[in-house]
Amino acid sequence: MSRKPLIAGNWKMNVNHIEAVGLVQKLAWALGDFKYDPTKAECLVIPPFVDLRGVQTLIESDKMPLKWGAQDVSEHENGAYTGDISAEMLVKLGCSYVIVGHSERRQYHHESDFIVNEKARNALAHDITPIICVGEGLEIRRAGEHVPFTLAQVEAALADRSAAEVAQVVIAYEPIWAIGTGEVATPEDAQEVCGAIRGKIAELYDEEIAAQVRVLYGGSVKASTIVALMVKPDIDGVLVGGASLNPDEFAFITRFYEVSQKTN
Ligand code: 13P
Repeated sequence: MSRKPLIAGNWKMNVNHIEAVGLVQKLAWALGDFKYDPTKAECLVIPPFVDLRGVQTLIESDKMPLKWGAQDVSEHENGAYTGDISAEMLVKLGCSYVIVGHSERRQYHHESDFIVNEKARNALAHDITPIICVGEGLEIRRAGEHVPFTLAQVEAALADRSAAEVAQVVIAYEPIWAIGTGEVATPEDAQEVCGAIRGKIAELYDEEIAAQVRVLYGGSVKASTIVALMVKPDIDGVLVGGASLNPDEFAFITRFYEVSQKTN
């Protein structure tokens, strides 16, 4: 079963709507300079909500080989939920992906496994691919509990989803201790958990579904670390924070396949 690598840049709460246009333009130029081949890896930008319309207009009008998505979605359809953004609004903005359950939302907005499950359900119901984030903190890693902890998050996020729905989701393993710290998990650490995630999906559904799900690694990914991560059998891409704000570095990460030969 072939899985197309996904290289996703989560801008987090950086880059205003004017800067966003410049960043996407520079990224497209850098990818062009690198002769990026979109059949070999999918390149996705995930800006703040307020940037989405500008990013959509630019990418569509210039026919750039880029996709875009959002950093969060409401679990509700519409109505009196001040500050929230609905899946329907994201569909109108052409978003093909949305991050759900990022550790920063679990931590600072107290999002529970139940909420993450509801958000993923809602995204799927609107044909938006959820990128479901999971991963342990430092204490859990030190206690050697990282695999069962992460698998429990995966199981909770997928509860009540059909096999057909699960085949479409993306899971991102982002150990909290490796986010924004420069402390990248070794490729072996990342493969251990990404492989276990695929095994869990096979156990919950079947091997065929598990072989379709893309599992990403995230946490201090850089141009210098991408190739060693991508050669691992169960790592199908990366969710990049800081380095995605540098268009040249993100373009280099996107075209990792030229160096590693791992493509679909
Ligand atoms: P950094 O790449 O900055 O560590 O962020 C990772 C992340 O949280 C992506 O969602």
